[in-house]
Amino acid sequence: MKSKTLSFQLSIFESLAELPKAEQELINHALKARENAYAPYSDFKVGAAILLENNQVVIGSNQENASYPSGLCAERVAVFQAGAKYPGIPILKIAIVASSDKTPNRKPAAPCGNCRQSIFEYENRQEKPIELLLMGGEGPIYKCHSVKDILPLAFGSDSLEQ
Ligand code: THU
Repeated sequence: MKSKTLSFQLSIFESLAELPKAEQELINHALKARENAYAPYSDFKVGAAILLENNQVVIGSNQENASYPSGLCAERVAVFQAGAKYPGIPILKIAIVASSDKTPNRKPAAPCGNCRQSIFEYENRQEKPIELLLMGGEGPIYKCHSVKDILPLAFGSDSLEQ
């Protein structure tokens, strides 16, 4: 029997001001996107902003539904939109801001399992890491270097090969 420890490094920034300008701007895009979240059932609003290699920014926000499972998370709205609008253009970073209007100063919320899997598909295809910037109502901001870091032993297209 062998055992292996899987770990990853998380960078923690106390406030937006600590981040490079381009990342502050991306988070500001995500904050703006969050304003268009449709979350009447959970009251938990999420905004996502993707920076593509061609410098375009694509945004998403969570869109809920009276039939709860029919709604979609902000991250998937954003990555699917990026894939549909800019096919083949690598994703460099995704900023995600999540907060409830009732308790606005939450800690950063990491993407749910389905979103990690969806983002991983893009990371695996482009063979370049996708950086994640996560923020709650305000700082701190968590920076993950790659989706793989938060989805260890990920299932990808290579898992289907015999
Ligand atoms: N939500 C997201 O948009 N992203 C996540 O990664 C987790 C959850 C949304 C889904 C739902 O509209 C609300 O937050 C509460 O779960």
